[in-house]
Amino acid sequence: MPADLSPIDKAKFVAAKRATEFIETGMKVGLGTGSTAAWMVRCLAERIREEGLKVVGVPTSSRTAELARQVGVPITTLDEAKWLDLTIDGADEFDPNLALIKGGGAALLQEKIVATASDQMIVIADAAKEVAQLGAFPLPVEVIPFGWQTTKALIEETLVSLDVMNRDCSLRMNGAKPLITDESNYIIDLHLKRIGNPRQLALVLNQIPGVVENGLFIDICDIVVIGHGDGRVTVRDINQGSERDDFVEFKPSDNIFADME
Ligand code: A5P
Repeated sequence: MPADLSPIDKAKFVAAKRATEFIETGMKVGLGTGSTAAWMVRCLAERIREEGLKVVGVPTSSRTAELARQVGVPITTLDEAKWLDLTIDGADEFDPNLALIKGGGAALLQEKIVATASDQMIVIADAAKEVAQLGAFPLPVEVIPFGWQTTKALIEETLVSLDVMNRDCSLRMNGAKPLITDESNYIIDLHLKRIGNPRQLALVLNQIPGVVENGLFIDICDIVVIGHGDGRVTVRDINQGSERDDFVEFKPSDNIFADME
């Protein structure tokens, strides 16, 4: 294993590991995208190997599908699975109501479809992702390439009448070219700094022609598992109004690290 995981990676790892305890045999599970979700896929693969857990995963991106195949998590498509028991995914920000900003990894569209098609969504995150109010992280909006500059101008115009602190928008690039999502779209990042009314913003953005989906997840997430660098994990359940702390053992011998550099 990499002997010296940074505190932030340890936090992501322990959150991911604790969250996989929610997975039971027979479940259909949405597999999120991003560095924290990647730990979760590895931890799930370990449970499959060691406990014979029988699950099928629905990946939320081509990257996650590739990782799942590599580490031995059986996968299928959402169309095949139809409805899922649980989705576990990372987030860029979460607020006290468990409203989320997602899409830092450009996978927000599949992530939102998969999470919405699940009985429960659990977010896994390091403590730095917790905010009093959303908006410091740029809000990703997936748009159709056709006429994207017009769509961007419409988004900027729409923001004038909304409760946000800043209105700069930028096309996400991949080197010299626009970044292309798994669904062959573009991402426009909205640098809002503060979002006063996430629910209203989410609804209004999706009314703009050319917008496919936005990265605000409202009333979708039920539980957040927050990892800390010392191995402590906080599980907060918004429906039950409960919060508890656990410790996740961090074993250098964990064989989920075996194939990592
Ligand atoms: C992917 O599009 C995102 O929604 C990720 O889930 C989010 O960016 C969190 O990523 P990390 O776990 O890498 O911080």
